[in-house]
Amino acid sequence: MRIAFFSPHSDPLAAPGQPDSGGQCTYEREVALHLARLGYEVRVFTRLWGLGAPREPIAESATVYRYPMGPAGFLRKEDMGPYLPQFTAAVIADQLEWLGTADVFHGHYWDGGVCAAAAGLSLGKPMVFTAHSLGALKRDRLPDSDPDGAVFRYAVRIAAERRILGAADAAIALGQVERDALVQRYACDPAKIAVIPGGVDLSAFRRCDDKARLQRRLGFATDFVLLTVGRLDPRKGFLELMEAIPRVLRELADAGKSATFLMPLGSEPAAPEEAAYRVRLVERAKALGIEPAIHWFPRLSDEDLRQYYSAADLFLCPSPYEPFGLVLVEAFASGTPVVATPHGGPSEIVSSGEDGYLADPRRPAEFASAILRALLVSAADRRRMQQAAFAKAKRLYAWESVAARIAERYSRLASEAGHAP
Ligand code: F6P
Repeated sequence: MRIAFFSPHSDPLAAPGQPDSGGQCTYEREVALHLARLGYEVRVFTRLWGLGAPREPIAESATVYRYPMGPAGFLRKEDMGPYLPQFTAAVIADQLEWLGTADVFHGHYWDGGVCAAAAGLSLGKPMVFTAHSLGALKRDRLPDSDPDGAVFRYAVRIAAERRILGAADAAIALGQVERDALVQRYACDPAKIAVIPGGVDLSAFRRCDDKARLQRRLGFATDFVLLTVGRLDPRKGFLELMEAIPRVLRELADAGKSATFLMPLGSEPAAPEEAAYRVRLVERAKALGIEPAIHWFPRLSDEDLRQYYSAADLFLCPSPYEPFGLVLVEAFASGTPVVATPHGGPSEIVSSGEDGYLADPRRPAEFASAILRALLVSAADRRRMQQAAFAKAKRLYAWESVAARIAERYSRLASEAGHAP
């Protein structure tokens, strides 16, 4: 079976730290790879810019094809709208023969959805849409982020998402919250929707039985190590996290304990917004007097970052809004419980008290309490949470089973299309 992924802004093989790259890239790369292992042939169509080559393999029968679109250089995903017809036309012109033999077109995010819908209509192919994040939910959670609509272009995006969902033969929601939003906010036919979460590579993210030893080996000498990761983007909530740290350190000190917070420093060279956010973070840490407890880490290799995940006692996700939260399942696979935002996907990933806690990062006292609740427990309870986190990753989030569920959806669609009147 042949599957075409349309994904202009999100390149599955994007270099770590590349702007507008993130969990969606990992998702597409891993799903393509695991579909290929199941015998599928996958081609991913994305934008050519920067150092990308026109063609690059993910696996033997999964390949990324890149096509120029709009001006040279980086283009924000929010600014891609006017160029999407040009992108779709370039893909169709170059891939006409292969697309003619493909079974399903799969659009990722609204930019990919626009292309997959147009190409699917032109070539008579069934179309699947995965939104990854929905404009209506993002606007609800970040009401002050774009008062005049010039930055995130919500009006265009939400209208496009509505039309894509109307045209799609199937939609994949990453969780129940997203599914409900598709039905209630976008009037999507519930019969079209399958809820299939994101996943984790269980062979790459590994649990470590002796976290204390690994922490020492990595050079951390405090009682606890807490990790947060992500692009230096205000939407990741690192500034909000800073406000919770003084109370955590104070109450840990009262209990005779100490902690190190591992915080990302972003990529080099940094984009101007990233560099500005970094300055704000470092200055705020100084003003709060928490700098000595922070270990800023530069962009790490995948393997080094995974060591941090395994070594950490607790993983923190302080985003005011997180559409799914791939980083949480990566933490779980590393045997690391989490304290995460309740807004978005994490509310469905975390079982409070079992493998982590949910707390609002915009309420520092609440976020700090959740961190303390997770840390100040007996060694046996801590171990129980670590085991529960790991067991959940294995049970629910292996890419193998995520890809198999997506494949099942494709097969159903393809056979329905085959029997179409
Ligand atoms: O583009 C980077 C990225 O994190 C994608 O991985 C993800 O799908 C998207 O942003 C989320 O977009 P939004 O900012 O619209 O929630």
